[in-house]
Amino acid sequence: MPALVLLGAQWGDEGKGKATDLLGGSVDYVVRYQGGNNAGHTVVVGDQKYALHLLPSGILSPDCTPVIGNGVVVDPSVLLSELSGLNERGVDTSKLLISGNAHIITPYNVTVDKVTERFLGKRKIGTTGRGIGPTYADKINRVGIRVQDLYDESILTQKVEAALDVKNQLLTKLYNRRAIAADQVVEELLGYAEQIRGYVADTTLVLNNALDDDKVVLFEGGQGTLLDIDHGTYPFVTSSNPTAGGACTGSGVGPTKISRVIGILKAYTTRVGAGPFPTELFDEDGEALRRIGGERGVTTGRDRRCGWFDAVIARYATRVNGLTDFFLTKLDVLTGWEQIPVCVAYEIDGRRVEELPYSQTDFHHAKPVYEMLPGWSEDISRAKTFEDLPKNAQAYVKALEEMSGAPISAIGVGPGRDETIEINSFL
Ligand code: GDP
Ligand code: IMO
Ligand code: MG
Repeated sequence: MPALVLLGAQWGDEGKGKATDLLGGSVDYVVRYQGGNNAGHTVVVGDQKYALHLLPSGILSPDCTPVIGNGVVVDPSVLLSELSGLNERGVDTSKLLISGNAHIITPYNVTVDKVTERFLGKRKIGTTGRGIGPTYADKINRVGIRVQDLYDESILTQKVEAALDVKNQLLTKLYNRRAIAADQVVEELLGYAEQIRGYVADTTLVLNNALDDDKVVLFEGGQGTLLDIDHGTYPFVTSSNPTAGGACTGSGVGPTKISRVIGILKAYTTRVGAGPFPTELFDEDGEALRRIGGERGVTTGRDRRCGWFDAVIARYATRVNGLTDFFLTKLDVLTGWEQIPVCVAYEIDGRRVEELPYSQTDFHHAKPVYEMLPGWSEDISRAKTFEDLPKNAQAYVKALEEMSGAPISAIGVGPGRDETIEINSFL
């Protein structure tokens, strides 16, 4: 049976959590393959609202096995508090599996993330301050700590000491901070080891066996395409690969197993943190999108920057991910505008450009070229089929589909599980 990838097609916060949760009831495994607790995925089930950061959204579906793949970075203290928070609310988390190869976000990496941002001043990325970048940097530098290291005290001690040798120089000599004691870090990490042991597994083997047994595996991306370290708006990106290829490297499942790649696409655009954003609005329309869409960060509580839909971005996401489908979310938020501008191309230094420019300088100069689409005023939150939507809402969806390069197979008309119009089945 197939493996599906579900990922953000813009700058994150497209509604991935809701989309994953919706499919969670019909899939056997939901796998996070990159990122860490920088993610904030909101899932609304009945009158209950859950904010998940590290755990796959499939954890809310009782028959589904949630998996944290090798490509994820794990902060053990966050993991344990998220698990106990869910347990207190009656959610069974016992099926969770964590790759022994996943890297640990150590306390010193959280410190380095924060002091680096402070040091950058005006040039800061606006990270979530969760230690994500420094942990991936350690992984690539081959001085990272992996989940499996928690079970070998001598190896753990050697690795923490080696990592801190350099970091303490940096902290004390460059950033004017106090040095971090290796033995304290080791003690803290060992304190988590037994609490996590029961979840640790060879997740690559488990997932490949599951696929051989015709089980359905869903890969849930964190962040989004334009935050990808390779394909995003570098350096204003996260330090992992949310794009489709990341699902393979971050889980140990080969690309031949993946049959569907679903891009989650908001009916307008948002971004958190610094970096270019051509359709960003600084007027009352931007304020209205933020208010009506509830666009406030789930992880950091920061207001999200808001703007109109950008078809250049959507086309780019189709290209770099090989998208087979889109799940268009938050269409209901656009109810009430007489006309809705949609960015169809950019103007860059007097030229019209249809595709995302590969030069960072050009992208910083990009000005949106808008086409105006007629709006609608009817409440659409109870629509169950495409035909239930007002004609202008249907035309808006069709126009986006045409511009974006892949079929829109589902439409979100509200935050709840049942506030979704399914057009083509994902399974
Ligand atoms: P994620 O990071 O991609 O999982 O998205 P977030 O959870 O950070 O942000 C998406 C927000 O939109 C959450 O508050 C969701 O509950 C909400 N949401 C998701 N889909 C819809 C939708 O179709 N309509 C509305 N009004 N809200 C939605
Ligand atoms: P979800 O999964 C939106 C942004 C941060 C910052 C940049 C780098 O909820 O869509 P990091 O802490 O990752 O090093 O920060 O990436 N960012 C997100 N923006 N949604 C997210 O996750 C994000 N995760 C990171 O704001 O600009
Ligand atoms: Mg989010």
